[in-house]
Order: sequence, then structure tokens, then C-alpha cells
Amino acid sequence: MAATDTDVFSNEDKRNLNLGGHVGFDSLPDQLVSKSVTQGFCFNILCVGETGIGKSTLMNTLFNTTFENEEASHYQNGVYLRPRTYDLQESNVHLKLTIVDTVGFGDQINKEESYKPIVDYIDTQFENYLQEELKIKRSLFNYHDTRIHICLYFIAPTGHSLKSLDLVTMKKLDSKVNIIPIIAKADTVSKSELHKFKIKIMSELVSNGVQIYQFPTDDEAVSEINSSMNAHLPFAVVGSTEEVKVGNKMVRARQYPWGIVQVENESHCDFVKLREMLIRVNMEDLREQTHARHYELYRRCKLEEMGFKDADPDSQPFSLQETYEAKRKEFLGELQHKEEEMRQMFVSKVKETEAELKEKERELHEKFEQLKRMHQEEKRKLEEKRRDLEEDMNAFNRRKMAAETLQAQSLQGSSQQPLKKDKDKKNFFSLPSACSLTSGRNLN
Ligand code: GTP
Ligand code: MG
Repeated sequence: MAATDTDVFSNEDKRNLNLGGHVGFDSLPDQLVSKSVTQGFCFNILCVGETGIGKSTLMNTLFNTTFENEEASHYQNGVYLRPRTYDLQESNVHLKLTIVDTVGFGDQINKEESYKPIVDYIDTQFENYLQEELKIKRSLFNYHDTRIHICLYFIAPTGHSLKSLDLVTMKKLDSKVNIIPIIAKADTVSKSELHKFKIKIMSELVSNGVQIYQFPTDDEAVSEINSSMNAHLPFAVVGSTEEVKVGNKMVRARQYPWGIVQVENESHCDFVKLREMLIRVNMEDLREQTHARHYELYRRCKLEEMGFKDADPDSQPFSLQETYEAKRKEFLGELQHKEEEMRQMFVSKVKETEAELKEKERELHEKFEQLKRMHQEEKRKLEEKRRDLEEDMNAFNRRKMAAETLQAQSLQGSSQQPLKKDKDKKNFFSLPSACSLTSGRNLN
């Protein structure tokens, strides 16, 4: 039987050889370092915390610089995320740092949906990376990776317990990002209260099943420091960009009427521990965990959703071609179904409109008939009026003729009998029909 590639490189066939002299592959790690340095690094921090809790101050303190700081108002309708990217350089190492702020977090009366924009932002960055990976022409080498490497969750220094908003948000985020909880403005809580507060927070996180980031202990070089630091979580931090003279040294501190809180003094707060763990010791692990754990989970779910599997039900290796065909068929079926639905909808809409139009036509017809009847009635009334008027006119003409005859007779008689004329005149003017001539209808 012919040996396959896996047989060739299996452990049993591996043979140790001694080299006769220096070959040079021991420089591989150096080559890697040199390549990484040339390429530069990306690091993305998400700061989740209420408005004014000290997010910007801590970032400025952490990187010993002044980033843009726009104060958020307390009247935002919802939470939104504001990413800002900076190019930083230390020695010859370039770092593309993105700080993402949660603007308006905790300011709404109804906080139920507050975690959603954060989850959406994290998922969008994963999706962008996945899309780049799935491209035929990928350029992951110079791709600006915006996936969140660390989420610093700012806990308000209440000294009581976590708020439900904190628990819900951390629970929603813990499978998507490395969470390091920190107690903000720790200078406002006394030493004994802080100790109890830390224990309370950790027990609440455990009882609610919230997974926070644990500093790795598998690498011997850092296992000791990391395991001791895990016990200090959540870090109680103080931020300040103000420099105060302590002894003969200028240190970053917060000055109060009763004393000075030094940011970098380990007996005052855990700021130095946070900086050590986040930047100096575990920055690469955070990047690795993001890629190997959180992104991998997102990628797996997304590909499974798209119908990809590693093996088919008969345990045969997964065929991309078959999956593509199956998905295509499924998609075409869905499309046909949708088309049929739309056709049915269109037919029923047409029927509805037709019925409406018919109803309107019937109403119009009825209206027309009614108007026709009204018109005929009006015509009939006018006809009657016309007849009445004609009768009146005839009667008037008859009277007029009678009056004229009478007048003519009286004129004849007056030449013979003046007395009789006067009498006839009197009779004429006393005739009721004569009076009605002046007060009669308007004949026009
Ligand atoms: P928004 O971006 O507006 O949400 O605020 P923020 O969370 O970035 O807070 P910011 O850093 O602007 O600080 C708000 C106020 O808190 C400022 O007056 C800071 O001086 C003060 N502050 C920041 N850190 C600390 C701290 O550790 N202790 C105390 N006591 N005050 C702090
Ligand atoms: Mg801010």
C-alpha cells in the first residue's frame, strides 16, 4: 500500500539526526520577531462603563498620553460605540491602538437593550474578519484587525454589589471577548470595604456563571505572576493625568485636602498590576485568545449556520461542492416559495381592488338614477308652473279685452249722455278685476 503524506510525517517515522555544523534555522525566532516588528501590531480595547466613571482618564493614564476626550452627555436615547484608532510607537515597535468607548451606557431608564449595541459591535468586527478570510483574494497580512482583544468592564465603586446591568452585560459578552473587570475610582472606597467588595463581586460573577479572562498559567515564565494576579481580580484602579510632587519626584496622583493618592503606588491601588498584566505580560495572549477562542467560536457558528460541516452524516469528509449545491437548492426552493406567495398575494389584491371598484360603480349608478329622478320631478314642477302662468296670462288678456270693449262703449255713450259716462267710469274703477291688473303676477 502506498504511504500517504500523514504516514510519512507521523511520529513513529521521525528520526533524530545530529548536524555536522551550524545550519542556521536557530534564527527562525529572530526572523519571526523581525517580521512582526516590521509589520506592527494591532490592539483593540473596549471600555464598558457608565458615563463619567473614568474610562478616558484610565486610558490616558495607562498609555501615558492624552487621547481625544469628548465628554458624553447623560441624555443619550441609547448606547452607541465610538471607536478611535491611534498609531503609537515605543522604541521601534508600532502599535495601532483602537479604543472603543460605550457612549451613554447606563443612562437610559430602560436598560434592557443596553448590551445589544456592544454585542453587535463585537460581532461586526468578527464578521468583517471572516469576510476577509473568505475572499478569494485575501489580504490578511495588512488587514486592519478591529476585533476586540480586551473588554475592560468598569464597575462603579458602590461598595455594595454588582448591578443587574453589569451582570447581564458581562454574561452576554463573556463568550465573545476577554473580560477584565475593574473597580473604577477605587480611591472613593476604604481599604477594608474594597477587600469585601472584591470578594462579593467575584462570588457574584461565579454564581451567575460569568466567565472572566484568567491570566494564563501554562507558560512557566509567567505562570507565577499570572496566578498571583488572578487572585487580585477585579483590579481596583485610580486614574489621573495630573502630576504631583511627592518627595522630590513628580508622580501621577490625585490630590485631596487630606492627602495624595498615587496612581502607581501599589499600596494605594491596583493600577500597576493592571498595566503589567494587560500590556507587559499578557498582551499577546489576549490577542491569541481572541483569535483562537472567541473568533473561532463565532466562525464555527457562522459556517454551521451557512450549512458547512467538517463531516457529513456518514462520517465522510465534508464536500464543499455538495454543501454548495445543497444550499443552492435550498435557496432556490425558498425563492420559489416566496415567488408563489407573492403571486397569491398579488391575485388576492387584484380581486380586492376589483370588488372595490365594482362597489364604487354601483354607488355611482345609484347616485345617477337618483339625480335623474330629481331632475324629472323638477321638470314636471316647472311644466306645471308654466301652465299656470299661461292660464293667468289668458285670463288677463280676456279681462284686458273686456276693459277695452267697455272703454270703447263708454266713449260712444259719453258723446250722447255725459251723465251716464260718469256712472260707467265709476263702475269700471270699482271692478275687482281692474284692481288686480296692477297687483298681478309678474308676467315676464
Ligand atoms: P465619559 O466618556 O463622558 O462617559 O466619561 P469617562 O468615563 O471617560 O470619565 P472621565 O475619564 O472623563 O472622568 C470623569 C470624571 O471622573 C473626571 O472628573 C475625572 O477626573 C474623574 N475621575 C477619573 N478617574 C478617577 C478616579 O480614579 N478617581 C476619582 N475620584 N475620580 C476620577
Ligand atoms: Mg470618556
